Amino acid sequence: MGLLEEILGRPKLRQQLWAWWYPFFTRRIRGQGIRFLNYAYEESPPLALPLTAADEPDRPNIQLYHHVAAGADLRGARVLEVSCGHGGGASYLSRTYAPAEYVGLDLNPAGIRFCAAEHRVPGLRFVVGDAQRLPFPDASFDVVLNVEASHCYPDFPGFLDEVARVLKPGGRFRHADLRYPSQTEGWVRALATHPRLRLDEMRLINPEVIRGMELNTPRYRAMVAAAFPRFLQGLTLDFAGVTGSRIHRDAVSGELSYRSFRLTRKA
Ligand SMILES: C[S@@+](CC[C@H](N)C(=O)[O-])C[C@H]1O[C@@H](n2cnc3c(N)ncnc32)[C@H](O)[C@@H]1O
Repeated sequence: MGLLEEILGRPKLRQQLWAWWYPFFTRRIRGQGIRFLNYAYEESPPLALPLTAADEPDRPNIQLYHHVAAGADLRGARVLEVSCGHGGGASYLSRTYAPAEYVGLDLNPAGIRFCAAEHRVPGLRFVVGDAQRLPFPDASFDVVLNVEASHCYPDFPGFLDEVARVLKPGGRFRHADLRYPSQTEGWVRALATHPRLRLDEMRLINPEVIRGMELNTPRYRAMVAAAFPRFLQGLTLDFAGVTGSRIHRDAVSGELSYRSFRLTRKA
């Protein structure tokens, strides 16, 4: 068992590690305009989403958001994104689908400060908060999105309870993330058996995420070389999922499973 799998398997350690790491990471890469913190996504043949020139550098990461949100009917909806990171997905989806409201929530205060300064879009706002204690009333959102973040949470079933609580009946929950084998069964079971959520679809998207990692490798190598001292570069390249990193190799071998899910809040 590798260090990462060991950490992912220990809830309290995981929470403390990520609560320290993400603000540290945000501060280190300040000034590099990193708007996404995910492993990205590309189909074969390529998705070829129409994007603005300003969005083009983020294409593989935007495509993961496009995949997760596809068909969720965001136009005019009240949307909550739990763990919005640096807000690139929140900005892209707000600009593309014009929801009535889009709230991006994250535990990382430095990330939320970055979001507020970087993304000025009508209807879009950002708040600091914990996925397991969502600071919103019952039945207040039509859609909840959650991209590549739930592996950080110590209590995944508790997070699902919160999602079901803040969703309106009939509301949509769109979720994507990764797990090692020791956590996969519990993860899928929690999604498939939640009393107030109906699992409509699950997809294994390793091939698409592996392509995303490979497309981002030159950019992420340059980012890590510019922002991290040499002794932290190996660890950070692993975290960034560049080609040949532990995460990339495990995704290629199938040891690591990356999945996307579509759920509906039961009436
Ligand atoms: C891999 S990043 C993904 C960010 C974003 N969804 C994206 O795709 O760019 C994981 C995010 O989860 C956030 N996070 C970790 N634990 C959290 C918690 N308990 N509540 C809310 N956010 C949390 C981190 O701060 C980080 O921004």
